[in-house]
Amino acid sequence: MNDFSIVFIGGGNMAASLIGGLLEAGMAPEHIGVAEPDPERRAQLARRFPVTLHEDNAAAVAGADVVVLAVKPQVLRPVACDLAPALERRRPLVLSVAAGVRTEALRRWLGEVPLVRAMPNTPALVGSGATGLFAPPEVSESLRERAESVMRAVGLVVWVDREELMDAVTALSGSGPAYFLLVMEALEQAGIQLGLEARTARLLALETAYGTAKLALESGEDFAELRHRVTSPGGTTERALAELQQGGLVALFQRALEAARERSQELAEALGRD
Ligand SMILES: NC(=O)c1ccc[n+]([C@@H]2O[C@H](COP(=O)([O-])OP(=O)(O)OC[C@H]3O[C@@H](n4cnc5c(N)ncnc54)[C@H](OP(=O)(O)O)[C@@H]3O)[C@@H](O)[C@H]2O)c1
Repeated sequence: MNDFSIVFIGGGNMAASLIGGLLEAGMAPEHIGVAEPDPERRAQLARRFPVTLHEDNAAAVAGADVVVLAVKPQVLRPVACDLAPALERRRPLVLSVAAGVRTEALRRWLGEVPLVRAMPNTPALVGSGATGLFAPPEVSESLRERAESVMRAVGLVVWVDREELMDAVTALSGSGPAYFLLVMEALEQAGIQLGLEARTARLLALETAYGTAKLALESGEDFAELRHRVTSPGGTTERALAELQQGGLVALFQRALEAARERSQELAEALGRD
């Protein structure tokens, strides 16, 4: 973890989570830099982390082994084009966490640098993210490992071997927190309809979601197997699940993910233009 230096371009929420995770994983603060144009945001970061802060992106990346692009996708093109000359000599690993921006567009803007693309999700902000990673074939194993070690600082990491699968990752885990929140919201509302107090319904929905995820994680068993185990024949769960199945829940999730993937493809086209 301390055999490379890292600089974040953009010191927002995702950068702050990654910095927190890297420091916790034992990275020395003197190996971490952040370029952030907003002085107030820089002051906030300085209060939280003993890392080096920069106003200027190009000056920040001088000497960096890893450059993390952590600005909003909408501003990535000008940021990347401005950085290109500064990256040309040293060619550090560039790790982009910008949702939806493809490596083809990044290469066009940045020039010939080793690139890894990451698609994290919002639970990364509390260290429980799920990140999909993609690297073009020419990126070496050691640079892949380096990118992976950075993203692991905020949770689970999986690799996909074809870039189009990043749209599937976006549809599942990128947008996924909102699906689970909707389910939790629906359970909360249904509990209230059954007469529970709002606070009680909220807590029960929340803890049930958390506990179920924890159980599935710790047991490592198939979701279906765990579900069968809590579904006694003739019991309450069986009756509720029959309603959900009749309502087409599984097919509905299939359609939802397909719609999200299609939107991800459209956004990637729009973001990568020119
Ligand atoms: N948050 C998540 O959970 C999440 C999940 C998946 C992917 N991502 C990706 O992570 C990236 C960052 O997201 P975020 O939530 O951290 O956004 P954010 O909080 O808005 O952070 C972006 C930061 O970049 C700064 N910035 C703007 N223009 C800049 C420039 N020219 N040079 C350097 N820094 C600049 C912004 O400053 P100002 O505020 O002054 O503009 C802001 O502090 C995005 O591309 C997003 O797609 C985030």
